[in-house]
Amino acid sequence: MQDDALAVDVSAMLSPYAKALGPDRAGYTNHVIRVLLFCDELWERAGGDGDAPSRQMEYRVTGVFHDLGIWTDETFDYLVPSIDLAAAYLEGRDCKDLVPLVTEMIDLHHKQRPAGPPDSAVEIFRRADAIDVSLGLHRFGLPIKDVRGAMRAYPSRGFHKRLIKLTAKRTIEHPTSPLPMFKW
Ligand SMILES: [Fe+2]
Repeated sequence: MQDDALAVDVSAMLSPYAKALGPDRAGYTNHVIRVLLFCDELWERAGGDGDAPSRQMEYRVTGVFHDLGIWTDETFDYLVPSIDLAAAYLEGRDCKDLVPLVTEMIDLHHKQRPAGPPDSAVEIFRRADAIDVSLGLHRFGLPIKDVRGAMRAYPSRGFHKRLIKLTAKRTIEHPTSPLPMFKW
C-alpha cells in the first residue's frame, strides 16, 4: 500500500499548518495518507465505481482537515474548528457545494454506530479512521496485511502515542467529558 502522488498532495495541503502541527506534522501527515488508503480499500470492497476516494476532493479535504483543529485551536474538542478549516478551504476553491458533505464526514467520524450505508462517504471515512486509530483492531473486513502494509509505508511517527497523551490530558482537565468528539 503506497501512493507517492497522494503523499505529496497531502503534504502540500498540510504545509500551511506546519507551524501549528510542530513535531506532530509527520505523524499527522501519515495518518491522513493511511486513512485515505483505507478509504480506497473499503470503497473497492463495497463495490465502488469511478474515481477512488483518495482521488476525490471531498475525501481529500475531509482527510486533511478532520483532526487538524487539535493543533490549530489547541483543543481535543476539535470537530467544529476542523470543519471550519475544511469549509474555508473548499469555499476558497469554488467547491462550496461540497461543504455539507465534508461537514458531515468530519462531524460523524467518531460516531460509535454506523453513520450511513457501507458505500457512503460518511461511513467509509468513519470506518477508515477507526481502522487507523485502532491500529487494525477494527478492520471492517480489511485483511490485517493491508493495515500492516500501510503502517509500513507510512509509519505512525508518534501519532498514536500523541492521541493517548491527548486523551489522558483531556481526562484530567475535563473529567466529565474526556472524549467530546465521540458521538453515539
Ligand atoms: Fe483521524
